[in-house]
Amino acid sequence: MSKLIIRGGKPLFGNVRVGGRKNSALAVIPATLMGDGPSILENIPDIADVNIYLNILRDMGVKVDRLDSNTLSINPDSMHTEVVPEDRAKKIRASYYLLGALLAKKGRVEVALPGGCDIGLRPIDQHIKGLKALGAKVEVEHGAIVASADKLIGTNIYLDVVSVGATANIILAAVFAEGTTVIENAAKEPHIVDLANYLNAMGARVVGAGTDVIKIKGVEELHGATHAIIPDEIEAATFMMAAAATRGDVTIENIIPKHLDPITAKLREAGVEIEENGDKLRVIGKRRPSAVNVKTIPYPGFPTDAQQPMTAFLSISQGTSIVSETVWEGRFKHVDELQRMGTKIKVEGRTAIIEGVGELTGAPVRATDLRAGAALLIAGLIAKGETELSGVEHIERGYENVAAKFKDLGGDITKETVVETEEVAK
Ligand code: UD1
Repeated sequence: MSKLIIRGGKPLFGNVRVGGRKNSALAVIPATLMGDGPSILENIPDIADVNIYLNILRDMGVKVDRLDSNTLSINPDSMHTEVVPEDRAKKIRASYYLLGALLAKKGRVEVALPGGCDIGLRPIDQHIKGLKALGAKVEVEHGAIVASADKLIGTNIYLDVVSVGATANIILAAVFAEGTTVIENAAKEPHIVDLANYLNAMGARVVGAGTDVIKIKGVEELHGATHAIIPDEIEAATFMMAAAATRGDVTIENIIPKHLDPITAKLREAGVEIEENGDKLRVIGKRRPSAVNVKTIPYPGFPTDAQQPMTAFLSISQGTSIVSETVWEGRFKHVDELQRMGTKIKVEGRTAIIEGVGELTGAPVRATDLRAGAALLIAGLIAKGETELSGVEHIERGYENVAAKFKDLGGDITKETVVETEEVAK
């Protein structure tokens, strides 16, 4: 177990570079298995979820080489099984992408039901509906999903809910299907576009990614390709909120400002100054933020993954903010911990009512999931006195060098007693 010791109350200043998008990398990495020959992936974040995924691939015989800390070469030609190792698959949510990728490539796949953050019920019925519509036989046996098909045939699939995972999984499965697959009510997140761009670079024919109708024309084969992952908008959002909340002045680099529009709009509404300059955003927190209301909705709405950090940011606002979480029903677990630091937040079902307080005070707190950890980190940077933040392994699932990056911005933050939860081969 490791802890972050944060002595808050210091404004953050300087420049920080954002890494590759976690949720994009976690979709593109399994897609490499569908090509013949190696793919080179650039801007891959060096985070625990990615490293667990790479170990899954290694266990399956795939040749994974780290060319530098953020560049990988993945060659699936030596893959010897379509059975995904259960213990590792259960640790991450995105292991579900192996369903679509391996069903398409091998005609059969066996993968444990996925894990991931505990933020409420996380069904995969829409993934299964999509694979079945393409002609696969899908069964759950002893906690594992087994999918198989002699041949997949393109068809029209309407998603009952807008699901990032189901959209990406169906795209993967449909790449080699005979004829054309049409996904309606598809997720429009930029990482869906990133996945489609990578697949198209490999020889796939995916059109419409980024809209709610995506068409996939089946092809016979894919080859390896070189692809750079888009920047992580949630890492960027976390730095933006921390900069503004500590009344600092931080320039966030290597981002696509358009992807951050919902965050930028809300922070500006709260009185934060934000200047856009190419692939950089300068965030200046000149005064105590004003209260704003936030509702999470799929892209291009306010992202659910930024809701928890935003709750921490709003905890010191002037007035009362209402935060509505429409995507995950269990995503306010960070609030109990925030209360230890002096916040005044009341949770009613999927709504948090935040009465802004003048200051927070440091306390021992625990991250229960990835973005809860980000919220507590921001609160610790705001708070007077010392915050001892445990459960850091959750934060490290999605943030690369988090303590060092905040330290470079002048944050007083140190990491203590690290014990790896996963033996990570890098
Ligand atoms: C992905 C992200 C996660 C983010 C979420 C929403 C990854 C690895 N994780 O998760 O960080 O919070 O998108 O942006 O990329 N649903 C169903 N049936 C399904 C699938 C989903 O009912 O088969 C529901 C879920 O319960 C949830 C909503 O749809 O209420 C959105 O889920 P989805 O977009 O699928 O999230 P994930 O892909 O799991």
